[in-house]
Amino acid sequence: MGKWVQAIVVGHRRWTDRLHSLQVAAPEVTFVAGQFGRLALPAPPGAKEEMLGRPYSFVNAPGTAPHEFYFVTVPAGPLSPRLAALSAGDPLWLLRTANGFFSAGEVPPADVLWCLSTGTGLGPFLSILRTPEPWEKFGRIVLVHAVRHGNELTYGEVIAGIADRHRGAFTHVPVVSREAHPGALQGRIPALIGDGRLESRAGLALAAENSQAMLCGNPAMVEDTQRALEARGMRRHRRKEPGHVTVETYW
Ligand SMILES: Cc1cc2nc3c(=O)[nH]c(=O)nc-3n(C[C@H](O)[C@H](O)[C@H](O)COP(=O)(O)OP(=O)(O)OC[C@H]3O[C@@H](n4cnc5c(N)ncnc54)[C@H](O)[C@@H]3O)c2cc1C
Ligand SMILES: NC(=O)c1ccc[n+]([C@@H]2O[C@H](COP(=O)([O-])OP(=O)(O)OC[C@H]3O[C@@H](n4cnc5c(N)ncnc54)[C@H](OP(=O)(O)O)[C@@H]3O)[C@@H](O)[C@H]2O)c1
Repeated sequence: MGKWVQAIVVGHRRWTDRLHSLQVAAPEVTFVAGQFGRLALPAPPGAKEEMLGRPYSFVNAPGTAPHEFYFVTVPAGPLSPRLAALSAGDPLWLLRTANGFFSAGEVPPADVLWCLSTGTGLGPFLSILRTPEPWEKFGRIVLVHAVRHGNELTYGEVIAGIADRHRGAFTHVPVVSREAHPGALQGRIPALIGDGRLESRAGLALAAENSQAMLCGNPAMVEDTQRALEARGMRRHRRKEPGHVTVETYW
């Protein structure tokens, strides 16, 4: 188990039947905000590998303890239901090194950074927005969290803390697709971009001239949103080919 660090669960928050956050003590594991680690438990008997691991984005800010991971249970999935059954004191394994390029440092500077997430795709933005870098690089930051039902609008206290620290520079836009919810826009992110409701709620233009967008979560949202942004002249950003849209898909 050389590359795996044995960690310990120090907290478990159950937001809904399916949404969980695990706090994990593993001080030797470091990361850049927006990156993901790999969580693992011993593989079932007869499996090829010794450990069963999956990637999960860090939610806490780098250099803070404990680490935190926000996840949804996929009922037929091999790992997520086992993670959901863990309690404080249980062992859990983490890959020593974090990975990924979904970080503020990879995004070109702009007047506005749009952080567009569905479901547990909120997680890496909470880490990024708790570091100084994006606030030095972008004039305004809009965090969009899109969920099916109002009770899935999690991490309200962390988001309120970010809003307090960055008054005038931060806008939070909750989006609920399957019911009307007070204070939230109703619908899906690509449609809300297409009909101008997202810009009108944020009071900001979403355009190639002033904006960068980071997209995280459901791959269908990421694809459809990229299409909506392409219609505004915003194309995928790559190190060798600078653009306006940086993405992370979870499956
Ligand atoms: C870079 C990266 C970062 C990730 N970070 C997170 C994270 O922070 N939080 C998180 O909940 N998941 C995250 N995931 C997904 C996670 O790694 C697992 O795939 C997921 O927890 C399910 O694990 P499983 O072993 O139970 O099922 P798997 O065998 O891994 O997945 C089974 C199926 O479940 C669906 N699925 C997987 N993940 C999700 C999801 N998050 N929401 C809805 N459906 C899903 C897909 O259809 C997938 O084929 C990330 C994935 C990647 C690639
Ligand atoms: N949340 C639940 O109550 C629930 C219940 C049973 C099973 N599940 C399963 O749990 C997993 C995660 O569910 P989740 O609700 O966290 O995530 P999700 O299914 O990704 O939904 C999160 C948000 O993304 C939106 N979305 C989906 N496809 C989109 C697209 N192409 N473009 C733009 N937006 C899009 C959804 O809108 P729409 O509502 O319009 O799809 C919803 O607002 C899924 O595998 C799901 O099947 C969830």
